[in-house]
Amino acid sequence: MLWGGRFKEKLDNDALRFSSSLHIDIELFDEDILVSQVHSEMLCKIGLITKQEQKKIINGLLQIKNEFQSGQWKPNPNEYEDIHSAIESRLTEIIGETAGKLHTGRSRNDQVVTDAKLWIKKAVKEVLKNIRSFQQTLLEISEKNIETIIPGYTHLQRAQPISFAFHLLAYVEMLERDKKRFLFVENESNQSPLGSGALAGSILPLDRNFTAKKLGFKESTKNALDSVSDRDFILDFLNAVSIGMMHLSRLAEELILWTSSEWQLVKISDQFTTGSSLMPQKKNPDMAELIRGRSGKIFGNYVSILTTLKGLPLSYNRDMQEDKAPLFESYYIYSESLQILTKIFRDIVVNKNRFIDQLKDSFILATDIADWLVLQGLQFREAHHTVGKIIKYCEEKNKSFTQLTLLELQEFNVIFNSEALTYLTIETSLKRKKTFGSPNPVLVKKQISYWKKKLSKG
Ligand code: ARG
Repeated sequence: MLWGGRFKEKLDNDALRFSSSLHIDIELFDEDILVSQVHSEMLCKIGLITKQEQKKIINGLLQIKNEFQSGQWKPNPNEYEDIHSAIESRLTEIIGETAGKLHTGRSRNDQVVTDAKLWIKKAVKEVLKNIRSFQQTLLEISEKNIETIIPGYTHLQRAQPISFAFHLLAYVEMLERDKKRFLFVENESNQSPLGSGALAGSILPLDRNFTAKKLGFKESTKNALDSVSDRDFILDFLNAVSIGMMHLSRLAEELILWTSSEWQLVKISDQFTTGSSLMPQKKNPDMAELIRGRSGKIFGNYVSILTTLKGLPLSYNRDMQEDKAPLFESYYIYSESLQILTKIFRDIVVNKNRFIDQLKDSFILATDIADWLVLQGLQFREAHHTVGKIIKYCEEKNKSFTQLTLLELQEFNVIFNSEALTYLTIETSLKRKKTFGSPNPVLVKKQISYWKKKLSKG
């Protein structure tokens, strides 16, 4: 018990069980031990505990760490309110009264927020690694599919031909933006709240900069009241996770479409698909569906913390304990989703010629023909109208673009010549693209080398 003095009775068992967060904040074990080690060093440095006492505390904390890692010590949520009280109690059991000095100048309010910031900094490192390796996997597949032509869509209607590589590179871009958001989060979590006490600092000469540096923070927070009330860095993290997960969910959705009998563009390996208990022919993209499905949870978690915080007066309120379950859950779902998608993509088989024949008979090059007319001097609206009329004609005659003769085209505009016909070939359509950022294979190749070089630098 951390506060015995002014109480006549101990907390009701049901109330303890109801309020304990130990089963969740046990996740902060490593950070909590580290923060205590550094705090004790600081107490020793400023002369509030002796060298021997500090040594005793450090050894006790190390023993708890060993006991925890070996499974010898499993704190019970029916006994302790949270990880901080569980560790302090165990320390008291191991080293006796000296343990009571560890909490000098410290409150669980600054302790928990310090732990959480350290945890997020660690999580960000992992996330960045995972994103990077997913980007690298996408680049490997892109390299092999620079000339794999697929329809590009708007409104899920065929719009213009693109390549599979170009499509995947769009995701590489999104993932890069995700990384930037996580770097921002890292920066937002880089101020140490330790030494803020419960809300108003301390009359003890705590060396905040010492603990901040030792814990790997860039600096100390500047307002004790804000330090213990602030959960913005968690929201920033969950915002980055939400946007990242939204990207994965969009890709998962595309994967589901691509693997359908209608698309038949991609095959996922057996290892990442499931069968049906009833229909023998089925091969279902469950992993992708779960990523799409779990993104709902992640967005919900973000909103749940926003909602928890919105009416809280400064400073700490117990409501804030509810920040951890959504934080940890979102992190694990997102990390696992990144890892599983990386594995799925590593093994996919792309049906490279899937669309060549189909696109030949479609009107997917209509924009290119209109642009060709512009190059011959026609005003764009007129060019657009002319091609529209050609398409109407084709539909009435049940013909495709490529089946039209030059004479037929000239009926619509005498400007048409044999060069126009070359603009109707799907195979060479991408090569005609001129603009930076287009799916021209030469540019896509350059983009791929750009990314490979950038990612190899870490
Ligand atoms: N378990 C608490 C939390 O996560 C730690 C802080 C408790 N502070 C307090 N004054 N009860 O929010």
